[in-house]
Amino acid sequence: MARLKVGVLISGRGSNLQALIDAARDPAYPAEITLVISNRPDAAGLARAAGAGIPSRVIADTERGAFAAAASAALRESAVELVALAGFMRILDDGFVAAWRDRMMNIHPSLLPAFPGLHPQRRALAAGVKVSGCTVHFVRPEIDSGPIIAQAVVPVHPADDEDALAARILAAEHFLYPLAVRLHAEGRLSVAGNIVMVSGVPPPEFALFNPAGG
Ligand code: GAR
Repeated sequence: MARLKVGVLISGRGSNLQALIDAARDPAYPAEITLVISNRPDAAGLARAAGAGIPSRVIADTERGAFAAAASAALRESAVELVALAGFMRILDDGFVAAWRDRMMNIHPSLLPAFPGLHPQRRALAAGVKVSGCTVHFVRPEIDSGPIIAQAVVPVHPADDEDALAARILAAEHFLYPLAVRLHAEGRLSVAGNIVMVSGVPPPEFALFNPAGG
């Protein structure tokens, strides 16, 4: 069976990229990463792509439309069918978002719609929430918004600082992103308005509770 071709956009560390690379090592996983694009030449994730033998491109931060045009061409050349934003910290222009509607996912380290944008873990702590987590969603023009595909919940412990909470959430991200990509690759996701319907798997499979056990 042909595997779904995924292009991953990164800006930094690339640990979610690594989780997707690791998942795709299993020949039974229904998706493969065929291209990594970074908007920063110094992104550590580029070395992860190289280590896995995946082609990568650096498309530097220029004017927004120019980035979108270059990224679109590169994604087309690699026959990418799904774009996965993995720590991609740049706002994409509306035309690019529209072109990839329901074929572009993002992962964010909060239980959206709470705490979109920067420093979600710090803001979760400041708000005194007792659980937090991460969300994979289809991308819409507003930052960290769009139909929610899957979420994972982790506890917030009284002694947590930002780093401790971020690490606990990140471990959950590494479970959740490969799961969401798999559900899409298996053709199980359909979008109606703001709601993603997941067919053929029971809710615990896409609403994970403390999957990393932290
Ligand atoms: C992850 O925690 C991801 O959820 C977050 O950036 C980090 C990237 O880590 N993304 C956002 O905040 C998007 N708004 P990684 O480079 O190690 O995958």
